[in-house]
Amino acid sequence: MLKSNGKKTAISAACTACFCLLLLVVAVQHHRVQVYEGTHGGDTSARSPVRDAEPEEPEAQEAQLGSAPDTKSFSAYFTKLTRGRRELEKPPRSSAATTGDPPPAEDISADDIFIAVKTTKKFHQSRLSLLLETWISRNTQQTYVFTDGEDDELKKKIGSHAINTNCSAAHSRQALSCKMAVEYDKFIELGKKWFCHVDDDNYVNVRTLVKHLSQYPHTQDMYIGKPSLDRPIEATERLGDNKMKPVNFWFATGGAGFCVSRGLALKMSPWASGGHFMNTAEKIRLPDDCTIGYIIESVLGVPLTRSNLFHSHLENLQQVSRPEIHKQITLSYGMFENKSNIINLKGAFSVEEDPSRFKSVHCLLYPDTPWCPPQVAF
Ligand SMILES: *[C@@H]1O[C@H](CO)[C@@H](O)[C@H](O)[C@H]1NC(C)=O
Ligand SMILES: *[C@@H]1O[C@H](CO)[C@@H](O)[C@H](O)[C@H]1NC(C)=O
Repeated sequence: MLKSNGKKTAISAACTACFCLLLLVVAVQHHRVQVYEGTHGGDTSARSPVRDAEPEEPEAQEAQLGSAPDTKSFSAYFTKLTRGRRELEKPPRSSAATTGDPPPAEDISADDIFIAVKTTKKFHQSRLSLLLETWISRNTQQTYVFTDGEDDELKKKIGSHAINTNCSAAHSRQALSCKMAVEYDKFIELGKKWFCHVDDDNYVNVRTLVKHLSQYPHTQDMYIGKPSLDRPIEATERLGDNKMKPVNFWFATGGAGFCVSRGLALKMSPWASGGHFMNTAEKIRLPDDCTIGYIIESVLGVPLTRSNLFHSHLENLQQVSRPEIHKQITLSYGMFENKSNIINLKGAFSVEEDPSRFKSVHCLLYPDTPWCPPQVAF
């Protein structure tokens, strides 16, 4: 059951980065299945990533860690799992930002980046307003909000940067792809150098983002983000005349945020522009972020560049260490088993005042913000 049904669930779960916590459990179950296959001579070789050449060793280590996580020890398990994965993500494939500052390939500024924030009308108050108060307030020029309903308050705050996609407000595969299609078209229209997508539960440290992206020429093919699975996703491409073709590819989880260079985005056009994105998503029946991965890795053959500086609520955010917070590109927050999954930061505000920790992060990064308590020693 786990091997067939469970796998399917895990795959779409990982793709949408939705808020259902069940998904976390499914993801771990999925991992266990994989670990089982890995340690018991299953068919992982057939599926193992060619390009990424993920070493077998650490997977075996993880197998030990993950031998029997019951629900109670889940968070401990998850901690170890995250740590194990972090080890995996270290060089050679990890981002250079953790190993010092390489010389920039291109001198870009925040204005060269297009940041699309995906939200839904239901979350304008509870989620979006926090972002508008914090990181978006410093980056209004390049940030656009993609939603699914009219909101005069939002229009008053950010004007034409609030875009009603007219997509359905459902958290369905089609609705998500519909929004991504509008984001893509807007990026192409605006002519900026980098396309970055985030969710409405992400804090974006734009300074770090600029620094990170400046390592790469925007004319080169670049797809940067964090995979949410530890192996390529397996999907089925519908070819017409009832023919199917299995495809394997990596994708960056939308819930952690990802970026695509303009050079690459332009190549994606036949599969992503106008109505094509929806058609492509329909062909593989996967959500928006998976579809981006499919177009880039599977169709265009451009590998995902992994960065551990992007964070979604599907990982243990306690693992982000306090001295490293200012180096991260995105942060997130969420709930698991009634416990909040938040970064560990003793900041300007208490957890009661600032449950997401985003206000505290913002005061750490921009202490001159008028509403930040003056001269706080953290
Ligand atoms: C959504 O519909 C409105 C009203 O018809 C239209 O003005 C707007 O351009 C549409 N938005 C998009 C992204 O197509
Ligand atoms: C979470 O809290 C709600 C309400 O306080 C309670 O009904 C539910 O059983 C709790 N769930 C877990 C997994 O602890």
